[in-house]
Amino acid sequence: MAEKKLTTSDLVEMKKKGEKITMLTAYDCLMASQLDDCGIDLILVGDSVGNVLLGYENTIPVTMDEMIHHCRAVTRGVKRAMVVGDMPFMSYQASEEEAVRNAGRFLKEAGAEAVKLEGGKEVSKTIKIIVGSGIPVMGHLGLTPQSIYKFGGYGVRGKDEEQASKMLEDARGLEEAGVFSIVLEKIPAKLAKKITREINIPTIGIGAGVDCDGQVLVTHDMLGLFEKFKPKFSKRYAEVGKEMKECYRKYIEEVKNKVFPAEEHSY
Ligand code: KIV
Repeated sequence: MAEKKLTTSDLVEMKKKGEKITMLTAYDCLMASQLDDCGIDLILVGDSVGNVLLGYENTIPVTMDEMIHHCRAVTRGVKRAMVVGDMPFMSYQASEEEAVRNAGRFLKEAGAEAVKLEGGKEVSKTIKIIVGSGIPVMGHLGLTPQSIYKFGGYGVRGKDEEQASKMLEDARGLEEAGVFSIVLEKIPAKLAKKITREINIPTIGIGAGVDCDGQVLVTHDMLGLFEKFKPKFSKRYAEVGKEMKECYRKYIEEVKNKVFPAEEHSY
């Protein structure tokens, strides 16, 4: 029998019960199926695929076609977790019609159950229209990497009173627009706690303290597989990148020295 998929109402129920929600990123079928096997609640096909896997400087160049390609691979490997497709830069900003069509592609072509998009008040009308067409939407406030050129850096957001109260207003606005959950990225833990308390939908924190309803990390960061830099908010649970390089070096050495293939690998 097919495993029961997690739904947006399950997540709201988890918030009510105080049960923490877990989310990690995946960009391929293998990693997604591992996460699903281990009981992750949400899998985000993040536009972070741009810097983590595709070699871009940031998330700006990531296209809809690239996202659909990766999202299709992810959904092939998932039975229980809810898969959220991240809407890339310029897939929802130009017009509401384009936004709905692109959001729809994640469900129709890639098998995702929801989409995520960045921004506050300025995107709430677009969100209302997407939700109105039957597509669950996750919001994203705080550090929004698609606005890197507007903010000019990746610093902590919501540090002063004015920014903090705007963010709280944005969170209320997103809830009103119909999002089922909001990612809070790189904001003071105190502010995240306040937002979490004031809205009825789950908050998922990344660099936003322990009081959010759930947590998300970039899987390649927490594995130590993406080694370029380590954000303060990310915890490395392993040094997989180092171990992989060790394997490659060993293989190269063994082939050069005719140690591999050995008798048992030969016919
Ligand atoms: O693209 C991504 O991986 C994200 C997470 C950091 C929340 O948006």
